[in-house]
Amino acid sequence: MKLGVNIDHIATLRRARGTFYPDPVVGALLCEYSGASSIVAHLREDRRHIKERDILLIKKAIKIPFNLEMSINKDIVDFALKIKPDQATLVPEKRQELTTEGGIDLIKNYKKVEFAVKKLQKKGITVSLFINPSKAQVEKAKQIGAEHIEFNTGEYSEAKAKSSIKKELKQIKDTATFAKKMGFFVAAGHGLDYENVKAIASIKEIEELNIGHSIICRSIFVGIAAAVKEMRSLLKK
Ligand code: PXP
Repeated sequence: MKLGVNIDHIATLRRARGTFYPDPVVGALLCEYSGASSIVAHLREDRRHIKERDILLIKKAIKIPFNLEMSINKDIVDFALKIKPDQATLVPEKRQELTTEGGIDLIKNYKKVEFAVKKLQKKGITVSLFINPSKAQVEKAKQIGAEHIEFNTGEYSEAKAKSSIKKELKQIKDTATFAKKMGFFVAAGHGLDYENVKAIASIKEIEELNIGHSIICRSIFVGIAAAVKEMRSLLKK
């Protein structure tokens, strides 16, 4: 199981006081050193946390793959084409949201997503589509020609009742099995923490988890190296 560490919230802390610290570039290097399989960062259209400068430096500094989370907005796609991350993960983006609120709807946005995917792939960038765990969305991802998909675990993470958690897990497991049979590299993420990650990590069709908020929060108490290592060891179990 691979662990992609999303470092956006190091930049959220920096933003809180308008300082130049903590530097997400240093954070990315420490995550790499502590066993992250890849570094993930979301360059939002409003630049509320990660900035172009962070992306450029992180890409130069790390040796593990860099996964740029991004919308299909033309300026962002042009930026990705210029800096060529190892992977681009396409997500929906709303200006007012606190965080990504759901998967990208490939049925509604088929043409626009396909256009962005083809452009990115032409530059040799692997494209992943962040979608809700639904077979209809997986089929569309196939038609679009993406190689990777990432299932949104947000509904699972927010579920409180045991029955809802069970239902969400089954949905993720069934859709992951379906996607794996179709030849996708299957990832998952959003809202995963040191407790709820275990059930998701035991789904063998899922090959990568992308986790940010809980790891960065934990690092305030134990340091970023320990926070990454603890998560890594949970994935191994
Ligand atoms: N994967 C995707 C596609 C996301 O948008 C995010 C949030 O930026 C994550 C994973 C990580 O989510 P969290 O910060 O809740 O762990």
